[in-house]
Amino acid sequence: MALRKLVAGNWKMNGNRAALDELDGIAAAAASVDIDVAICPPFTLIAPAVAKAGALPIGGQDCHASAKGAHTGCISAAMLNEAGATLVIVGHSERRADQHETDAEVRAKAEAAIAAGLIAIVCVGETESERDAGRALAVVEGQLDGSIPPAGEGKTLVVAYEPVWAIGTGRTPSVADVAEMHAAIRVRLTTILGERGAGVRILYGGSVKPDNAAELLSVPDVDGALVGGASLTAALFVPIVEAAAAIG
Ligand code: PGA
Repeated sequence: MALRKLVAGNWKMNGNRAALDELDGIAAAAASVDIDVAICPPFTLIAPAVAKAGALPIGGQDCHASAKGAHTGCISAAMLNEAGATLVIVGHSERRADQHETDAEVRAKAEAAIAAGLIAIVCVGETESERDAGRALAVVEGQLDGSIPPAGEGKTLVVAYEPVWAIGTGRTPSVADVAEMHAAIRVRLTTILGERGAGVRILYGGSVKPDNAAELLSVPDVDGALVGGASLTAALFVPIVEAAAAIG
């Protein structure tokens, strides 16, 4: 089953108000294609991005699992929703590494996001040493088992496979390795979610650029892309959106 593609940009801790000018070109491109496109800027830019981006969905890069409370520096899914966000990335490898987020925490965040009316993009992916040890599939399957909300379905849940060693490095897995991993993720989602697993989009992320987007997005069960560095400018992001739209 071909799922409607999603190309989401993750600005990470980059950008300022001036950078929101990039949204003009991105929103125009998004409005002219028949796929889903979204941008996840830093928290402080969400509300101004929503005001500027028209129909382009804007998302957060993390949320807390609790609705409110004594969690200094954190943000709840409902707060993101009120700021105008419609989606949120959870369990990015940078947060799993830097903030020591566990699978159980990631699942709780995804559940909180969905309960607040957001689409949750749950990230998984192996490190280079795990791949070298032949454990990539097992690691990702374990992350899915621990991180995927059992009630998840395609309308509210997206998975992003992002090999840690491919993020920000300019390196990407072979098409065969992407195909093997995405097929395995599809099987695992079906094990966890039953029939609903067939409707959950699986994005590839890690050094997606204009010159490799078409090849990566043509792989079976690659239902879109999560793009970091190349999402910061319309000049790099729009060609990726257009490559995804051309594949459909
Ligand atoms: P990258 O980041 O495209 O800069 O490799 C991807 C991500 O971390 O989502």
